[in-house]
Amino acid sequence: MSEHVLKVENATMQFGGVVAVDNMNIVVDKGEIVSLIGPNGAGKTTAFNVITGVYAPTNGAVYFNGKKIIENHPQGKMKKLYQGQNAGKYTHVLAPTPDKITQLGIARTFQNIRLFKSQTVFENILIAKHLRRTSNLFTATFHLNGKEEQKMREDATHLLEIVGLKDERNEMATSLPYGKQRRLEIARALATNPSLLLLDEPAAGMNPQETDELTAFIGEIRDNFGLTIFMIEHHMDLVMEISDRIYVLDFGKPIAEGVPEEIQNNQRVIDAYLGGAADE
Ligand SMILES: Nc1ncnc2c1ncn2[C@@H]1O[C@H](COP(=O)(O)OP(=O)(O)O)[C@@H](O)[C@H]1O
Ligand SMILES: [Mg+2]
Repeated sequence: MSEHVLKVENATMQFGGVVAVDNMNIVVDKGEIVSLIGPNGAGKTTAFNVITGVYAPTNGAVYFNGKKIIENHPQGKMKKLYQGQNAGKYTHVLAPTPDKITQLGIARTFQNIRLFKSQTVFENILIAKHLRRTSNLFTATFHLNGKEEQKMREDATHLLEIVGLKDERNEMATSLPYGKQRRLEIARALATNPSLLLLDEPAAGMNPQETDELTAFIGEIRDNFGLTIFMIEHHMDLVMEISDRIYVLDFGKPIAEGVPEEIQNNQRVIDAYLGGAADE
């Protein structure tokens, strides 16, 4: 049996009195597109932040390709305060920083687009390539030999062709129309050679045509790059069309998991979320 690409195990993320992620268990398998949906504030982005090392979870573990990459347990004040499940199960601390997570092969995009604003499309890709190689921007930029630099430039050019941004290569990132900025952000994530890609609301703010194009694009990159994709999204057409499986999150916990038809017909999901979202 092959290992899950991603396994989130009993993860809790508590901010003071707010339990944003509550004993969460999720798996994503190789080649799957799995969506995480749920109302605003359900803890979706926080789950991504835990997986990518932005926050060490209050408790729990994360595995990547069968290897434990993140583990934490309540410490300090939280030791007494922690009311969550599985207290005492985790005893080690494994808390890699986001750049280490990137180097392991997990890349992400953000709910609010984050691009290097005063750089061109091409430079945005090239910087991401440098960052994959070393976490330090200074050494990344100045200590490469000519051959390596040339290879990176060729790869960046090739990537822009694949994602359909070849003609925009020398434009400022922020001068691109919104849909293309989103595409560039995904391309920049791909530039770090991930095997697992996390997309946080990639269709946010897109019109229906841009959303359709994005839907096709996500399917294409999964196939072309042999990716596994874990995606947060509110556009239900996109989610239902493209997802192999869906998790529905409410108050930090998955309340349902299944293929799109199962989720669409799940009364608990309709009550908690889809009833309203479907009308948006
Ligand atoms: N750094 C933080 N400090 C305190 N509370 C936070 C922090 N990040 C998220 N939260 C809280 O966690 C909950 C879940 O937020 P979030 O993960 O952004 O939800 P979603 O992405 O599903 O809309 C919210 O109540 C939010 O206010
Ligand atoms: Mg969010």
